[in-house]
Amino acid sequence: MKIFLDTANIDEIKKYSQMGIIDGVTTNPALMAKEGRKVEDVINDILDYVDGPISAEVISTDVEGMIREATILADIHENIVVKIPAIPAGYQATKYLSERGINVNFTMVYTANQALLAAKVGAAYVSPFIGRLDINSTNGIDLIKEIVQIYENYNFITEILAASMRTAVYVKEVALAGADVATIPPVALADMVNNELTNVSLEGFLAEYNKLPEDKKYVFS
Ligand code: E4P
Repeated sequence: MKIFLDTANIDEIKKYSQMGIIDGVTTNPALMAKEGRKVEDVINDILDYVDGPISAEVISTDVEGMIREATILADIHENIVVKIPAIPAGYQATKYLSERGINVNFTMVYTANQALLAAKVGAAYVSPFIGRLDINSTNGIDLIKEIVQIYENYNFITEILAASMRTAVYVKEVALAGADVATIPPVALADMVNNELTNVSLEGFLAEYNKLPEDKKYVFS
C-alpha cells in the first residue's frame, strides 16, 4: 500500500520524505488555507521534496471552472493530480480531464456507488472519506471493502485512496481491507513511526551494553 501525507505543511512533508516513507502528498483547500501562504508557492515547495503524486484541489464547482482550474494545476508539473469533488458536475469534468491524460483524484466520496461512477469516468484515484463517515455512525472501513470488491469484480484500474484518516489504527485497517493508498495526517503518521515498546527495549539493550568496560566495547573505526 502506498502512503501519502495529508498536509500542505512543508516541514512535515520534508521530515517524512527524508525518512523515505511517503510516496506522495494530498492537499485540499482547507489544508492550503492553514499554511497562510500563496498556494502556488506551497505546491512548488512540495514538488522540491516529493517525487510522487501530489493532489491539489480545484475551487470551482461548475464543469467549465473545474476544467479550467484543473488544466492550470496539471500544467504546473506532471506529478500533480487534480482533485475534483464528487458532485454531479465533477463526473463530466473528470471524464473530460481523464480523456486528456490528466490524473484526477475524485474526492469526498461517501458511497460505493460514487466510487463505481468515479471509475467509469476514468478517475486515477477515488478518495473515500472514512473518518468523516465514522463520525456519522457509518463504518468507513466497510466502505473501503465494498469498493475493493466492486473494483475487483470489473477490473477497474482506479486506485482506492483511503482518506480522512483519524488515527494509526485506520491505516492498518485500510491496509487489511485492500486500499491501494492511505493518505495520513502527520499526527497519525507520527504514531506509526514512534513506538514506546521499541524505545523501552532499546533503552534496556543500551543500558546493559554500557556496563561493559570501555576496552571490551565495539570499535567502529
Ligand atoms: C484527502 O485527500 C483529504 O485532504 C483529507 O483526508 C480530508 O480529511 P479530513 O478533513 O476529514 O481530515
